[in-house]
Amino acid sequence: MIRLDGAVACVTGGARGIGRATAGALAARGAQVWIGDIDLAAAQETAAEIGAHAAHLDVTAPGSFAEFLIAAATSGPVDILVNNAGIMRLAPFLDLDLAGHHREMAINVGGVINGMSLALPGMVARGQGHIVNVASMAAKVTTPGAAVYCASKFAVGALSRAVRAELAGTGVTLTTVMPAAVHTELTSGVNLKLQPTLQPREVGEAIADTVRHRRSEVTIPRWLAPMGTVEQGIPETALRAVKRQFVGRDPGQYDQQQRRSYLDRIQR
Ligand SMILES: NC(=O)c1ccc[n+]([C@@H]2O[C@H](COP(=O)([O-])OP(=O)(O)OC[C@H]3O[C@@H](n4cnc5c(N)ncnc54)[C@H](O)[C@@H]3O)[C@@H](O)[C@H]2O)c1
Repeated sequence: MIRLDGAVACVTGGARGIGRATAGALAARGAQVWIGDIDLAAAQETAAEIGAHAAHLDVTAPGSFAEFLIAAATSGPVDILVNNAGIMRLAPFLDLDLAGHHREMAINVGGVINGMSLALPGMVARGQGHIVNVASMAAKVTTPGAAVYCASKFAVGALSRAVRAELAGTGVTLTTVMPAAVHTELTSGVNLKLQPTLQPREVGEAIADTVRHRRSEVTIPRWLAPMGTVEQGIPETALRAVKRQFVGRDPGQYDQQQRRSYLDRIQR
């Protein structure tokens, strides 16, 4: 059991969006929260608002991640790590630059690998700890126009399953969280009309709940859990025809102009 009251919890990408909501939910339940974000000014502002600590973190750099965890450990041994930082670029695969594809993988997958590699040894040695890896419904369902994002989230799902099996019996747990579309800057300019949508607060509360129930995989909303079976079970051409009914022929259900400020931010 991890008692959230007094527990030390680290949230990557906690300056805004789902990470901010998660940090807020954990702090409200009594945890000593450390927000790590590449945007230090925003992280400090959020931390001041919710009663947390803030530090600079680039999840793609193991040295930066190690420094973040060392800073958090000044509050006590790290009990909880939420690997949340992530970006989403939208456009046909060939229209996006190659360096950007690799950067997206480095943040969305590399960041999770870095976080687990650095936080798990201490947790396993203490026989206590909890990791949350924030994937997405894109870990179960592929969408044209988000090829590398989907690849990164499928990778987080697979990585989490395998590591979870290795952790069995150590006292350390790992939950994969897979939310549907959430109203954050990441989805700015995306037409979400035909999809179930969530507010960051709902996801933050669901992530904080995992510390109590420690389920392996959490889909939000829960009724979307079978979507992976549908994706794998239906022949690809038939599935593509069905998806076209919902998202149109091409991956055009977003407005790149409305996404401008988000895209500028993730390129910095
Ligand atoms: N918004 C959605 O619809 C949705 C749905 C499912 C899953 N997710 C996942 O939830 C997570 C959070 O997404 P969000 O919607 O809150 O996005 P967001 O853009 O609102 O927040 C992401 C935060 O991560 C930080 N960040 C980016 N790169 C970083 C890096 N290299 N190191 C440290 N911090 C970095 C950003 O500065 C930002 O504060 C992501 O992993 C995303 O893929 C989002």
